[in-house]
Amino acid sequence: MQHITASAPGKCILFGEHAVVYGHPAVAVAIDQRIKVKIEIATSSTHNWKLDGLVFDPKKHPHIEALKRRLWPSSLNAPPLSISIDGKIPAASGLGSSAALSVAASAALRAARGRWLNGSVNSPENWAEGFSSKISDTDVHSDNQPNDSLRSGDLGQKKRFIAGSNAVDIDECALLAHAVEAIAQGGRASPMDSSTCSHGHIVVLSDRIEDGIEWQYSRKLITPEGEREWQIHTVKPPENDVFLVIGNTGIHAPTSKQVEKVASMLKNNPERMKEIETIGLISRRGIKSLLNGDYESVGRAMSENQLMLQSIGVSSPELESLIQAAAPSSLGAKLTGAGGGGCMVALTRNPKKTSEAIELAGGRTIISSFGASGLMIEEDTDTPLWINT
Ligand code: PMV
Repeated sequence: MQHITASAPGKCILFGEHAVVYGHPAVAVAIDQRIKVKIEIATSSTHNWKLDGLVFDPKKHPHIEALKRRLWPSSLNAPPLSISIDGKIPAASGLGSSAALSVAASAALRAARGRWLNGSVNSPENWAEGFSSKISDTDVHSDNQPNDSLRSGDLGQKKRFIAGSNAVDIDECALLAHAVEAIAQGGRASPMDSSTCSHGHIVVLSDRIEDGIEWQYSRKLITPEGEREWQIHTVKPPENDVFLVIGNTGIHAPTSKQVEKVASMLKNNPERMKEIETIGLISRRGIKSLLNGDYESVGRAMSENQLMLQSIGVSSPELESLIQAAAPSSLGAKLTGAGGGGCMVALTRNPKKTSEAIELAGGRTIISSFGASGLMIEEDTDTPLWINT
């Protein structure tokens, strides 16, 4: 049976959460745990899409619905699909599960649909359809048109067709995933998760182009609070023998509430912006240590970052207890993500010992290597599944 399987990693934040909201750099690392998305043509006689064997409910899966509109519109007679999702990233725990799903699904859909080019060379400038940070005449954010991915005018000429993994573009998947995350989250989403789950390894987000690391692209989003712009950089982790151990408190603490808490603390005490600036300085130092492969210093910067997160009020007794348990066997440990609950992360050369210590303190753990690979096409049999003729 014709099918395509794509996978994308989850992520955790190594430095800079909360400070990134105020323009400072934040660093995310891709983890080994991935979401896999398999698509094939639905076999049922009804014209229903299927998800894990059940009729697809767009309300339950807004990310998939938004991708379907962009890449697989029924208005163009694209046949209904059957999707299977398999994943090892716990949902709603700040580990990027929804972005990983969106990235993997956008890659699978693009591989299945293929791409028309207006010339022989496969580069964004020559695409007759698609989204890219290098082209501006398609609108990834518009949810209204039947086929937003088709470019206008002469560029919409279809000359050469490519399919399968040849048609997949990491930047396009990151862009699509960011747009659909924003739709699913009421117009607010930083590109941190979508970019890290697409590119893998290490991603640095900032409001300016940072020195000494590879700048990839700018991302803009019109949020309910106005336009925001981020600069995305990637860093390949130097050879290392370090691991991440993520400890989950199991406590659900919505990101929006934690961000609001910090905002009101700063409104009442503007002088405390110093603490946010200090997190920015720690992040920059952490990035330098990462580039030097000096993981002892990376760990120290993580622990210093934790002290500041504690000071701005986003840690919790449960997080503190897991962090303390991890400390003796790790290079550094801190909460990861919005805090208030959710997860902590430790950098360690002894993942078994660190994981056992965190589990003894009541956390559920995940062990990962440092900076896993990004988006991958795992299986591609006989693509395309449909051609937009
Ligand atoms: O837990 P996550 O992955 O949603 O991370 C939140 C990071 C914050 O800096 C607290 C918020 C943000 O939008 O960057």
